[in-house]
Amino acid sequence: MKIIETKNLVKRFNGVYAIDRLSIGIEKGQITGIVGPNGSGKTTLINLLSGVLKIDSGEIVVDGTEKITRILPHQVFFYGITRTFQNVRLFEQMTVLDNILVVITERNIFSSLFEKHIEYHHKIAEEVLQKVGLWKKKNQLAANLSYGQRKLLEIARALAMKAEVYLFDEPFAGLFPEMRKIVSVIVQELKQKNKTVILIEHDIGLIRELCDYIFVMNEGRLLAEGKPESVLERKEIIEAYFGN
Ligand SMILES: Nc1ncnc2c1ncn2[C@@H]1O[C@H](COP(=O)(O)OP(=O)(O)OP(=O)(O)O)[C@@H](O)[C@H]1O
Ligand SMILES: [Mg+2]
Repeated sequence: MKIIETKNLVKRFNGVYAIDRLSIGIEKGQITGIVGPNGSGKTTLINLLSGVLKIDSGEIVVDGTEKITRILPHQVFFYGITRTFQNVRLFEQMTVLDNILVVITERNIFSSLFEKHIEYHHKIAEEVLQKVGLWKKKNQLAANLSYGQRKLLEIARALAMKAEVYLFDEPFAGLFPEMRKIVSVIVQELKQKNKTVILIEHDIGLIRELCDYIFVMNEGRLLAEGKPESVLERKEIIEAYFGN
């Protein structure tokens, strides 16, 4: 079953096509890789799927029925979609813990008035911070974390949203091996829970290891799709991706 489909999706910046009539289908409960050279439109696609950017034309269909043509970022959770950013976005002057609590309470603003819910929110926050190894740092300001820890905090925040679809924009980039391992386990656990993961990644080894299916993009268009092992050995894909 397709949980997200794009139909002839178009996004231009100053007349230049960042996404050019892109039609793809994302299978529910799988890990789908989005690969392609720099500037091929991967982040723009995620920005459209998460309502950060407005679609120029075409449409996004969620769960077979809900059509997103104009959706605002704070509404996107309604569709069960959450994301992380290629350039991490945190509340710098808040603590690690508050960075998590703020997104949980934001979408439960009424229920958070009741103490038992506050306790429940803390439980979720502890669970996700333990998972990324940041529970001990819960009282530090986000601004004081290392680059890798900041990326992990953003992933923890996405997990705290308990969404159906997780959009991860290069979550492994710049991480040390032990942190990469944490992210890799998280991605695989989401799949085990039948959640859908869309993963933008440059590392072909990770793509092969994690992804059930991949879309290869080039200049905003779909170059190829299929299982990583078959797509990634095609000569024209390797050339487009790595250059000659
Ligand atoms: N806000 C913007 N304003 C103008 N042009 C943009 C904007 N965002 C992206 N672009 C352009 O759209 C194209 C696609 O960019 P995008 O960031 O989606 O690529 P990407 O595949 O994520 O690349 P990378 O691998 O480097 O992250 C590029 O030509 C980029 O310069
Ligand atoms: Mg990008």
